[in-house]
Amino acid sequence: MSKPSSSAAPRPQIRPYALSLSPTARAALKHQQPCCLWLTGLSGAGKSTLANALEMQLNEQGRHTFVLDGDNLRNGLCNDLGMDAMARQENVRRIAEVARLMVDAGLIVIVSAISPFRADRAAARALFRSDEFLEVYVSTPFDICARRDPKGLYQAALQGRLKNFTGLDSPYEAPQQADCEINTDEVDLAEAIQRVLAVLLEK
Ligand code: ADX
Repeated sequence: MSKPSSSAAPRPQIRPYALSLSPTARAALKHQQPCCLWLTGLSGAGKSTLANALEMQLNEQGRHTFVLDGDNLRNGLCNDLGMDAMARQENVRRIAEVARLMVDAGLIVIVSAISPFRADRAAARALFRSDEFLEVYVSTPFDICARRDPKGLYQAALQGRLKNFTGLDSPYEAPQQADCEINTDEVDLAEAIQRVLAVLLEK
C-alpha cells in the first residue's frame, strides 16, 4: 500500500478553508469539553467492552459521545487495510484523524483499537491538546486474552493459521506513560469505568 499521508510531502495547492463556526462554539452548544479517550491493548483485552460501558455511562450523564472501534472501522472506512505493520500504522492514522474531527465537532470520542506501535499512538496524541487526549492502557496480559479468545483468533494464530497476530508474531509496544492502566483480569467493569472517568475529570 502507499505511504500514509502523515509522511506525504506538503501540498501548497491545498489550502484549509477557515470555517466560521469554531470547535469551541460547537462544544459550548453541547455543554461539554470534548476529548479523546484512547484505549490501547491486545486483542481480547477488554477494550471494546470498556469503551462501550464508558459510552453508556457518559450518555447517562447527558454527554455526547462516539466510539471508534477498530473492528467496526475495519468493516468500513478501513476495510482496505490488512494487519501488517504499515497497514496498522495507516489504520491508526485514520482513526486518529477521525477522532480529531469528532472532537472538533464537540464530541467525547472513545477509541478502541489495538494500536500496537508507540510512534503511531504518539502521532495520534500529537493531533490533540494535552488536556484533550487520554491514553488508557488496557493491560490484560497475553495469556489471559488467549484463554478468553472470544473470536477464536488466538487459537488460529497459535496454530499458525493467522499471521501477524499481535503479541505473537506482530509486536505490541506497551505504553510507558499511560494516563490510566486497567487490567480487566483484576479490575471489574464498574471499577474500570470509575477509574477512567476519575482520570478524565482530573485532566
Ligand atoms: S490495529 O492493530 O490496527 O489497531 P484494530 O484494533 O483496528 O488493530 O483491529 C484489531 C482487530 O482485528 C482485533 O480485535 C481482531 O478481532 C482482529 N484481527 C484480525 N486479525 C488480527 C491479527 N493478526 N492481529 C490482531 N487482531 C486481529
